[in-house]
Amino acid sequence: MSEPKSKNITWHGTNVEKGERETALNAKGCVLWLTGLSGSGKSTIAYRVEQLLLERAKFTYVLDGDNIRFGLNKDLGFSPADRTENIRRIGEVAKLFADACAVTATAFISPYREDRDQVRKIMPEGRFIEVYVNTPLEICEERDPKGLYKKARAGLIPEFTGISAPYEEPLNPEIELFSAGKTVDECAMELVNYLVAKGFVQD
Ligand code: ADX
Repeated sequence: MSEPKSKNITWHGTNVEKGERETALNAKGCVLWLTGLSGSGKSTIAYRVEQLLLERAKFTYVLDGDNIRFGLNKDLGFSPADRTENIRRIGEVAKLFADACAVTATAFISPYREDRDQVRKIMPEGRFIEVYVNTPLEICEERDPKGLYKKARAGLIPEFTGISAPYEEPLNPEIELFSAGKTVDECAMELVNYLVAKGFVQD
């Protein structure tokens, strides 16, 4: 839905310019959008990035797929339409966090290219950093930290990404992270170094 359902609503501008907020907080809000299969390492890497940034006293926060489905998105399942709505809502939330100057990391499978591109579109130019956590299905399945692949193979979970539901790889991600054979710290540092190199955070 592109137009709001509500009528008679008016956008209220802020008294604070973006630059003022960034100067006051000494940070540049952005979204590190981690996408990849279940078990690819998205959440683990995102939470490690958060920790590393907090150690550097940066304002940062993680929005995690499983966690958000306990609250804000508890009404959504895994049909294509629900996944699209999941990503749409989180895109809006992530945009708010970034606007508040947080280095925001999201960890959602976000299997549809169009949904991810839609989030990119609503973000200010350059503030959406797509991170493809490229871990092959075989490795995710071998790790199977939650035992879900096993259940999906047994036909107990319908529409499971990579098994019975699609995953559309990013075509042009800002970062492609090959997590297999790397430690969590190495992956997380790759992201932190990117943020420093691009001036989102100072070292
Ligand atoms: S997304 O596709 O809508 O982006 P999201 O990241 O929120 O998915 O949630 C994925 C997590 O939900 C997985 O890591 C897994 O723990 C759990 N899950 C449960 N059912 C499914 C399913 N059918 N497909 C994928 N993940 C599932």
